[in-house]
Amino acid sequence: MPGGRPGGGRRRIVRIVTGIGGCGLLLLAYASVLEPRRLQILRYQLGVPDLPPALEGVRIAHLTDFHVGMAGTRRSTLRRALDIARSWSPDVVALTGDFVHNGRWERGAGLFTDLARTTPTLAVLGNHDYRDSAQSTSTIVSALQAEGVQVLRNVHRVVRLRQGDGEIAFVAVDDPSLGRDNLTAAMAGLPTTREPRRPTVLLGHAPDIVDQAPPDRFALTLAGHTHGGQLRFSPFKRRTPLELPMIAGGLDSAYARGTHLVNGNPLFVNSGLGVSGIPLRFLAPPQVACFTLTRTIDKTKDADDPERFLTEIPN
Ligand SMILES: [Fe+2]
Repeated sequence: MPGGRPGGGRRRIVRIVTGIGGCGLLLLAYASVLEPRRLQILRYQLGVPDLPPALEGVRIAHLTDFHVGMAGTRRSTLRRALDIARSWSPDVVALTGDFVHNGRWERGAGLFTDLARTTPTLAVLGNHDYRDSAQSTSTIVSALQAEGVQVLRNVHRVVRLRQGDGEIAFVAVDDPSLGRDNLTAAMAGLPTTREPRRPTVLLGHAPDIVDQAPPDRFALTLAGHTHGGQLRFSPFKRRTPLELPMIAGGLDSAYARGTHLVNGNPLFVNSGLGVSGIPLRFLAPPQVACFTLTRTIDKTKDADDPERFLTEIPN
């Protein structure tokens, strides 16, 4: 019938608008309630070709971006991630910053005592740990140290493992996103070339520090900061205009998430545990990660493929 029934077009528009609104509400509910709790447990085998036999099977747990004090950060998710990290019985724990959200130490942010009591726990600070005042940052550092966490700022620390039969050097830079990093100072006393007897791991809050690394120098670089994009519509591991926080100015790293290989240096960008800016996560669930060292690398992968060194172990 030409023109259809009177009012039919308007009802169709109302149905479409209602449908879009309903989908939007469902997405909002998912991003605010479900995804921030959907902890992703990642385990990788890290190939280190010159790994000393004593270090075969050594485990490094990695957690980052806790953002205690930010609305939307789930304490239950933080505790669950820490419980999972402890269940791995790691040899070393690496924490890469943003312990609190607003730069002030929060009651209840002391989450690491149990982990640090049994395991060397090394930390670098993130940009949010500097958000308030120098005094506030000192309070954060002191509180972490009181829990047994070793806060490292542009220094390195050699951790002896397996009854002293092996050791790993951890090079820890202060926050690169604020320009506080000094890789040269952190590596003072270490060679710029790879040490076959002593694998070296680089820790920095923002992943771009890997761009400063000498080629083929580090067995692994661990970073956070990007929250995996936190609210994203991009399938790519590198930053794209589809990363909404980038548009808002909050995601300023080229390496948005996951594994990369940069000048021969394997990099893992952890999506972190808390939230910042907006209390939502979409396609960027919180993560806790573990790396198990082995001599084996996957030689079938290309020289520029991170999977040559980092193989995900199915849960
Ligand atoms: Fe963060």
